[in-house]
Amino acid sequence: MYAILGGSGLAKLSVLQNIRRQVMRTPYGEPSGALTLGTLAGREVVFLARHGYGHTLPPHEINYRANVWALKEIGARGVIAVASVGGIRDDFGPGTLVVPHQIIDYTHGRKHTLFSGAEAAVVHVDFTQPYAPRMRALLLDAARRCDETAVDGAVYACTQGPRLETAAEIERIARDGGDLVGMTGMPEAALAREADLDYAALCVVVNHAAGRGSSKDEIKLAELDEVLRATIQRAVRIVECAVGATS
Ligand code: HPA
Repeated sequence: MYAILGGSGLAKLSVLQNIRRQVMRTPYGEPSGALTLGTLAGREVVFLARHGYGHTLPPHEINYRANVWALKEIGARGVIAVASVGGIRDDFGPGTLVVPHQIIDYTHGRKHTLFSGAEAAVVHVDFTQPYAPRMRALLLDAARRCDETAVDGAVYACTQGPRLETAAEIERIARDGGDLVGMTGMPEAALAREADLDYAALCVVVNHAAGRGSSKDEIKLAELDEVLRATIQRAVRIVECAVGATS
């Protein structure tokens, strides 16, 4: 079974059928909400809205550990994470869909490991390739099959939020090699690796990052929702095609 983690603009997966809810208790506290189980493209999936079903949780207050733990516990083997981002690269304008291949983590103070506390073993996981190549290929093949365009590969920079970045911060991230900027990719991806869940992200670019393109002087927040509404259905189509291709 695959899990879908919905971000901004995807608090509800209305294409799901035979829906049931499952409240999960975890050693790390409450997940963002009850899990939603259902069928998508004839396959059983589990859906969770990362920000809560009423979009009440900001990125730094999401209980990433509880979310990942709950998805593992219910029996997911892979996670498709949908997330909105700002585009740093010139060709990543609003409406672009991207399947990143790398991450740089600029977050701080988030509970970022499942292995903490007096009882926990010392565990290091390999994170050279933060996104599971198999899951990335699943998303990219699905995009091709359903006639959508998704860019193959980008460096996702995860910032702390909830404020957006300064133009200088984006310049620095660009110098570091960042192509996209979002606030929720970490520690989510690393926790998925610790839980031995295959994880890939489908990113929806909703704005040029601060200081770039149409965001040269400011990021017009009112426009983000519009782009998101117009683009999220394309992302859902890719997810549906991807899930339909799994056994
Ligand atoms: N920065 C960080 N996170 C984001 C952005 C951005 O510009 N757009 C959407 N999520």
